[in-house]
Amino acid sequence: MTAKVNSLTIALTRGRILSETLPLLREAGIEPIGDIAGSRKLRFATSREGVSLLVMRGSDVPVYVENGAADMGVAGKDMLLEYGGEGLYEPLDLGIARCRLMIAAPHPVAATGGRPRVATKFTGIAKRWFAEQGRQVELIKLNGALEIAPAMGLADAIVDIVDTGGTLRANGLEPIETIAEISSRVIVNKASMKIKSQAIRAILDALSAAVARRPA
Ligand code: PRP
Repeated sequence: MTAKVNSLTIALTRGRILSETLPLLREAGIEPIGDIAGSRKLRFATSREGVSLLVMRGSDVPVYVENGAADMGVAGKDMLLEYGGEGLYEPLDLGIARCRLMIAAPHPVAATGGRPRVATKFTGIAKRWFAEQGRQVELIKLNGALEIAPAMGLADAIVDIVDTGGTLRANGLEPIETIAEISSRVIVNKASMKIKSQAIRAILDALSAAVARRPA
């Protein structure tokens, strides 16, 4: 499935990534018509004819783009690493919403016999990371409130996003190891890149120029 040839759909990640993406899109000549950050609507026409925007959770952006329900998307590298797969192009790092995916644990680290239990919502990334290093862990899938899991005896460590480090500190955890540096990336459906190459290239070039104009 690929969206209509004369239209172009871009799937955006709601929240902080959306608020940092919109100014770049504006510089690229694409402005949503309507209150994209505040409305319950999920699809918006834009100032550029034929281009529409969708807003959704970051984990869903690669699903929409890989399956051609959207031609392009913006999602955090954490979501892309977790999604995996070879079905997408990732042509541009927007350099926004920067953070780290880290292993964190209480200090001092509790001595555990057997396999350490690691709580995370990024079970795919964590599984690969520990397997590559030959480290045996038991992964516990959580969807939020990860930082309290060690104090409650549910896990020995967590794998989560760290930005300022405030959430770790507030919950008695210390950063131990960085798994990946994260920022938001533009992804493109492979078929769309062929069929709509001119329109997509123009947007990528304009976004890339907007990123380059940003102060380092
Ligand atoms: C993320 C992450 C941490 C927090 C880290 O959560 O899961 O909990 O931010 O930020 P800090 O280092 O600046 O404290 P977010 O608020 O994005 O919500 P989430 O739990 O839905 O991911």
